[in-house]
Amino acid sequence: MSEAGIAIEAHGLTRRFGQVLAVDGAELSIPRGRIYGFLGPNGSGKSTTIRMLCGLIKPTSGTIRVLGLDIPRQAEELRRLIGYMTQRFSLWEDLSTRENLEFLASIYTLGASARRSASRP
Ligand SMILES: Nc1ncnc2c1ncn2[C@@H]1O[C@H](COP(=O)(O)OP(=O)(O)OP(=O)(O)O)[C@@H](O)[C@H]1O
Ligand SMILES: [Mg+2]
Repeated sequence: MSEAGIAIEAHGLTRRFGQVLAVDGAELSIPRGRIYGFLGPNGSGKSTTIRMLCGLIKPTSGTIRVLGLDIPRQAEELRRLIGYMTQRFSLWEDLSTRENLEFLASIYTLGASARRSASRP
């Protein structure tokens, strides 16, 4: 498949946390428009892999391309194009749903009018 048809690509993706080898040379090539299940036992490195693909943490070694961007170098650009639903609740509990949406929208640099239409019920 041509590079334009690939949404996520990773080669030799590896991440260590001290002595722990969390991800060991993962190879991924995921086409655009595909629903892709990523399964494995607890502690097998799924979240660590996803966090690297999103550019939230750096790989110890290996290469990543997501939507044509070189990650983690272009992680800021990628952040505007993707959404990541975390496993644990990661919003501010002392803000309302609307306040959380507005806060995140402002971080993602949506203008005020785009923000209003995006958070309209
Ligand atoms: N920030 C961290 N510091 C140290 N070790 C970590 C860190 N994050 C993950 N690990 C370790 O890396 C390994 C992989 O963890 P990870 O959370 O990626 O697994 P997982 O497949 O998402 O597990 P689960 O199914 O429980 O969500 C585990 O041994 C974990 O303890
Ligand atoms: Mg996990």
